[in-house]
Amino acid sequence: MWPGDSNDNLPVQLPSGLDAMEHQHHHYADSVSSSSPSDSPAASSPLTSPDLSEDGFDIDRLPSPLGGHEHEAGTPKFTLVIGGLGYIGSHTVLELLREGHNVIIVDNLSNSFQNILDSIKTLTAKHCKANGRRMPLIHFHRLDYRSRSMRFLIESYTDLVMTIDTRGRQRMTYQSRIEGVIHFAAYKSVEESIRRPLQYYQNNVCGLVSLLQQLDKYNIHNFIFSSSATVYGSKANTGEPLREEDLIHHAEERVDEVTGERIVMQPSAVGLSCPYARTKYFSEAILADVAAANPAWRIVALRYFNPVGCDPSGLLGENPRGEATNLYPVLTQVLTGQRERLNVFGTDWSTRDGTAVRDYIHVLDVARGHISALGWNGDRGSGFRAFNLGSGTGTTVLEAVRSLEAASKRTVSLDWAGRRPGDVGVCVASTERANKELGWSPRESVAQCASDLWNFVERTLGLQQQRQATSVKA
Ligand code: UD1
Repeated sequence: MWPGDSNDNLPVQLPSGLDAMEHQHHHYADSVSSSSPSDSPAASSPLTSPDLSEDGFDIDRLPSPLGGHEHEAGTPKFTLVIGGLGYIGSHTVLELLREGHNVIIVDNLSNSFQNILDSIKTLTAKHCKANGRRMPLIHFHRLDYRSRSMRFLIESYTDLVMTIDTRGRQRMTYQSRIEGVIHFAAYKSVEESIRRPLQYYQNNVCGLVSLLQQLDKYNIHNFIFSSSATVYGSKANTGEPLREEDLIHHAEERVDEVTGERIVMQPSAVGLSCPYARTKYFSEAILADVAAANPAWRIVALRYFNPVGCDPSGLLGENPRGEATNLYPVLTQVLTGQRERLNVFGTDWSTRDGTAVRDYIHVLDVARGHISALGWNGDRGSGFRAFNLGSGTGTTVLEAVRSLEAASKRTVSLDWAGRRPGDVGVCVASTERANKELGWSPRESVAQCASDLWNFVERTLGLQQQRQATSVKA
């Protein structure tokens, strides 16, 4: 409790004494702060700035301890996107900006590239110009979300305000200009997770726990988590569309639609196939516990099915640094000659053509799902809710192959291979909950996914060929 005048929600400087020692020596240096597509991200990035520590903050350049962004008009609010330059992250950032949100992007570029930021700015500027809208703010910080700089970054978007508690006492509390956090930063390779489980648990689970502690400290409680259909494990094998209540973390009561009987469902995870899947399951379970313990939290876990496709501009797409293992990225490598043939894993599943069925969903639909989720406002007394983001439609491996053959007007050579370990035969979402409770429904078809993806591949290839031609001439 702090003495002072009684103005509610009045931003003030941090008084010496309150956490002062921990604040005053570490202010996060803003890596890139821009509202213009022409700003050069490299110009002030920690990557190029000589006076920044590895963590990306500058101990010697000490601006005000709190509220490092007051120079911008008013007190703008932001959505913080961690892992915002990756495949799904970059599309979500773009959709947020198109919707007028100011965005802070945190990314360590471990599986992404900084030039994505330029594409995001270009596309946002184009959208704003076409719609006569002001360009939202885009702040980029290159850092690992587990580094200590993360705390200083969050703090730099925080004000200290005077509030009155229920007993009429004045209190100093943190009020953040970060309205919501979308957390994408995680490792996601099934095969690698089996070889390096500790790295996966460290980044995906321990990192999440520390992040939640920091957010809680600064009173940021609106959190969207990137989960995966992998949490359903072998429950997918029933062949029925997967419903969110097939995987719960606390006991739930529901009324049977046919008999009207009340049923208490107990949490149970079955057949989680690898450490990666367990990191997603553990993370969700932790989030459910955190929300149960403190009603201030609003936490949404979005269970992605198989995101594919890209923005129709062809400027953003899936461009992993490591080896491609997912079906569409492998398929594009075959179509562009980087691989000779596609191994079709499993031709003896009980599906219409014997190959496995998946629920491919356009990445822009997934991105829009995040924006809908940011508006989720609690549910039946629980601050945690899981939603599937899938199309609700099953596509076999062979149908997926045909979709990309049609988009590219090229043929894919196939090899029939045995089932891939850990695979399930069918994995399709029920979209009912997201539809009813978030007002979200997918718009794009698999054909559209394939055509947008091929557009991106052609554009990327064209640029590569141009670059090669220029370097030969030089
Ligand atoms: C995989 C992961 C899943 C993860 C998701 C997103 C496994 C077992 N599951 O899901 O945990 O959340 O990626 O990253 O790895 N296929 C081929 N040939 C290929 C590649 C894939 O036939 O070269 C088949 C697969 O066997 C599968 C389908 O295509 O039947 C889709 O595979 P993929 O794109 O890897 O996605 P999932 O297996 O659904």
